Amino acid sequence: MAKVKSTFFCQHCGAQHAKWMGQCSTCNEWNTIAEEVVSKESVRDWKQSNRIKSISKPLKIKEIQLNAEERIPTKNKELDAVLGGGLVKGSVTLLGGEPGIGKSTLLLQVALAITHKVLYVSGEESQSQIKMRAERIQSQQSSCLILTETNTQQIFKNIEQLSPEVLVIDSIQTLHTNSIEASSGSISQIRETTAELIAFAKETETPVVLIGHINKEGQIAGPKILEHMVDVVLQFEGDRNHTYRILRSQKNRFGSTAELGIYEMLSTGLREVSNPSEILISKKDTDLSGTAIASTLEGFRPLMIEIQALVSTAVYATPQRTTTGYSLKRLHMVLAVLEKRAGFKLATKDVFLNITGGISIDDPAIDLAVVASILSSNQDLAISPSVCFAAEIGLAGEIRPVSKIDQRILEAKKLGYKTFVTSKYNKITFEEKGIKLIRVGKVEEVFATLFA
Ligand code: TYD
Ligand code: MG
Repeated sequence: MAKVKSTFFCQHCGAQHAKWMGQCSTCNEWNTIAEEVVSKESVRDWKQSNRIKSISKPLKIKEIQLNAEERIPTKNKELDAVLGGGLVKGSVTLLGGEPGIGKSTLLLQVALAITHKVLYVSGEESQSQIKMRAERIQSQQSSCLILTETNTQQIFKNIEQLSPEVLVIDSIQTLHTNSIEASSGSISQIRETTAELIAFAKETETPVVLIGHINKEGQIAGPKILEHMVDVVLQFEGDRNHTYRILRSQKNRFGSTAELGIYEMLSTGLREVSNPSEILISKKDTDLSGTAIASTLEGFRPLMIEIQALVSTAVYATPQRTTTGYSLKRLHMVLAVLEKRAGFKLATKDVFLNITGGISIDDPAIDLAVVASILSSNQDLAISPSVCFAAEIGLAGEIRPVSKIDQRILEAKKLGYKTFVTSKYNKITFEEKGIKLIRVGKVEEVFATLFA
């Protein structure tokens, strides 16, 4: 039995300290240091018999053999796009997200769809619970194996017998290894079990997908170093009360992080959404004031979203400003610009702003649609549903250009929009027939253009 030793870990940044402190000297967070028992001689080895396969030696760049990354397609178009074409052999992917967002559902769906032999290890649900879930998503004829286990040594024992081609772990926080005595979910356990799984992935060229929980600050629970250790970090997000889910990549050693995947949670599992604009815009018969359509880009994909604003006389002395899906600071900025540059008296009004579908957008190009929806609600004049907007608002009230305007216009045209309002400073390289371009330079002009 190894000598029992304990050290102090910061639960926020993962730094190791010799003694307890109130404030972590590495990340300056308070009350984050906790004692964890570790045994000194931890053998970081996924197999008991350690074999060093090849001795590495330095090479010149031109001498390095390039073997194309072998990828295993996941049979899930959205996930493949986010990964850059499938799971790279020997890679470790971390999928983070809030509880109940659908991480287990997504990975089970993928595990059941893949033609390769998958071992799905769950430390959270029993085999029958997983069976019930698999029945819901109606895909049963698969060679995927389900194991409920939390001890990594036991998992590796199973792996040696089964030699799966893909390993899924649900979730890294439930795993524990014998080489360390700390409890599951603690910093040192997460670090050690991840290191074992990485060693396994690299040595056997098996792709490993880990599910990671998110803490209340929205970071993957466990030390930040976990994100440094793995090859790909994916984030599954969305509003639990809405059905849409967005899969983003935060880090990808084998592809771009700009791609994103959109899913809809149905009673039969997650459905891939290939034309998201249609579902994000509510179809209504009558023209209502306070809504405007924005053309945004999420990654490389143009996306039409609907912005709703409600401007009403303030009930309290301090007017309320509430947003969903849009930055509150930015709303304050936009309101100040409207007040100062365009003379709208909004200081005594409550302003509520909502992006439909429960998704949140940080593309500054939606500013113009935000302004349009606020003006529309304030004047109680509806904007024609065939108009869409894309431009950023500057502090001086100028309408600023946005990136990839051609792509946005093409998408708007494809979806049947008749008018596209953008900045006059945007260089548009092509003349598009079938969609009218309105180009504005100052925020004052927007109102005149819209309701003239
Ligand atoms: P789950 O994958 O368990 O989330 P996570 O692993 O991220 O915690 O998903 C849980 C939610 O998904 C649950 O609230 C129910 C819902 N759900 C559906 O709506 N349809 C389905 O087919 C499935 C399997 C789950
Ligand atoms: Mg789960």
